[in-house]
Amino acid sequence: MCGIVGYIGHREAYPIILKGLKRLEYRGYDSAGIALYDGNDIKLSKTKGKVADLEERLEKEISTKGSLGIGHTRWATHGVPNDVNSHPHFSNSGNLVIIHNGIIENYDSLKKELLKRGYIFNSDTDTEVLINLIEDVMKQDGIKLGKAVQVALNQVVGAYAIAVFDKNKPNEIVVARLGSPLAIGIGDDEFFIASDASPFIEYTKNAIYLEDEEMAIIRRDKEVNIRKIKDDSLVDPYMQELQINLEQIEKGGYDHFMLKEIFEQPRAILDTFRGRLLIDKAIIKMAGIEDNMKKFLNADRIIIVACGTSWHAGLVAEYIFEDLARIPVEVEYASEFRYRNPVIKENDVVIAISQSGETADTLAAIKLAKSKGAFVFGVCNVVGSSIARETDAGAYTHAGPEIGVASTKAFTTQITVLTLIALRLARAKGTISSSDYRHHLIELELIPEKVEKALKSDAYVKTIAAIYKDVKNFLYLGRGYNFPVALEGALKLKEISYIHAEGYPAAEMKHGPIALIDENMPIVVIATKKGHYEKVVSNIQEIKSRKGKIIGIVTEGDYSVRELADHVIEVPDTLESLSPLLTTIPLQLLSYHIAVMLEKNVDQPRNLAKSVTVE
Ligand code: F6R
Repeated sequence: MCGIVGYIGHREAYPIILKGLKRLEYRGYDSAGIALYDGNDIKLSKTKGKVADLEERLEKEISTKGSLGIGHTRWATHGVPNDVNSHPHFSNSGNLVIIHNGIIENYDSLKKELLKRGYIFNSDTDTEVLINLIEDVMKQDGIKLGKAVQVALNQVVGAYAIAVFDKNKPNEIVVARLGSPLAIGIGDDEFFIASDASPFIEYTKNAIYLEDEEMAIIRRDKEVNIRKIKDDSLVDPYMQELQINLEQIEKGGYDHFMLKEIFEQPRAILDTFRGRLLIDKAIIKMAGIEDNMKKFLNADRIIIVACGTSWHAGLVAEYIFEDLARIPVEVEYASEFRYRNPVIKENDVVIAISQSGETADTLAAIKLAKSKGAFVFGVCNVVGSSIARETDAGAYTHAGPEIGVASTKAFTTQITVLTLIALRLARAKGTISSSDYRHHLIELELIPEKVEKALKSDAYVKTIAAIYKDVKNFLYLGRGYNFPVALEGALKLKEISYIHAEGYPAAEMKHGPIALIDENMPIVVIATKKGHYEKVVSNIQEIKSRKGKIIGIVTEGDYSVRELADHVIEVPDTLESLSPLLTTIPLQLLSYHIAVMLEKNVDQPRNLAKSVTVE
């Protein structure tokens, strides 16, 4: 969702902010803008469209001079995407300027009050209401910007990460957060502000992540002063050393981040089990699990909460946990769970899965589960993210930054972490024999090289993409462990190519979707040898007799499906429980190539955001 960048220091702010906005493009946005203090006044340029459009326009419209500035990429919530609604927004006097990520829920009542007091509004945004509220507080109470931001935010209901400055006080920026991330990069006599650390990692490795309900007054050449918004108490900042490097957030020779991230999966999976899967000793070591083993062993059931692709990883985990550790599992959409008054018992363990660690619904589901006394375990990729901090314990996926909006390596590394947890619990509970356990560990260790092999299908998958790129509908079928993979394959295609696709359990096809099948319908069927192979082959026969076009995802050396299918894509053999880590690879590649052939914006598909920080 919206991206925030800011700079105050001794360098020119514009190139830092512009590059920073480009780095944040992955979050998803529809317009962009920058405000700079040129030593005299605030100069602002903004536009609907991409950062490249802004760059072209801004350099014609305003001077790029100045060592204080803020920039924004907007994902529309209040008001359509257009130039006027884009951020930054001025206050009525033109003295203050703001950028905002989030939603002010009570903006309507605040706006009515301000209208009564003579304020005028140019845009339809909640953000313009907030900056005028801050101005109004400053005027009425005769107080400085920092205090006015605090007073105004105490009247606000909603979520925000904001950065504001006053042209009469060009030596400070005020920032605040509630529910939307905000990082402050600490350099030598200079400070950077951003929604995540990617805009400033080449300048500093030191960052402070604001917590919810905190604000900071950042003074040029001085320190950062952090306070609680509610009671004004001072906060001792925790400076974190950043682990990411520039290479990880660049395309590294690939045409798109999504393709880079698909091909990174062997390494990402290896990083996920590095130091955790100790094959020589036949043990799995995960601090978050060991420290809370009692809670897991006493669990009557596990409730998994997540959204989107992470929810699909949760569905795969349901099979693994029930199969190996014999713990009942329920997998819930976080957005439904949070509003359902769910029954949560003392011995329930909740696992929240999230790549970004910022998904608003997942965060709310965690808070609800905690309020009902549940122990909540997080599986996140982004270190230090809100979900990682909100959960009682957790395990990081260590996939490295995922920039493409369509999740790929996050999915396979989430499954890897959840598999490790299930195996560890199965061993502790004695629900798996030691030979079976060892077999799983050995097979798991082989997964990175098998993913590498599965990636070799890339060129062939591309030829299949060329055949089907113009169809209007796709069907994806799978059974057992591979049913969630069918859902994930369909989601990937929808997201980046805008082709309608449905994922279904293969056997359910007879109860409805079979009516859709004719000679124009491509059906991707996951039919690996382990699992319900014969049953799936029967389903393929049913499709064949209705003339559907069959794309089979099969185990290496399979001949039966080859005889029936129009195309087969082979993946290496493995245990059924690990097969999603391989079968998902050709589905990612298929959606990628179709989207590229259709000339879609693969890394930033329309309407989508990388981290969904609003409901
Ligand atoms: C799909 C995708 C989304 C996310 C979902 C949850 O490719 O990226 O469906 O999976 O928005 O996001 P996280 O995992 O960050 O909570």
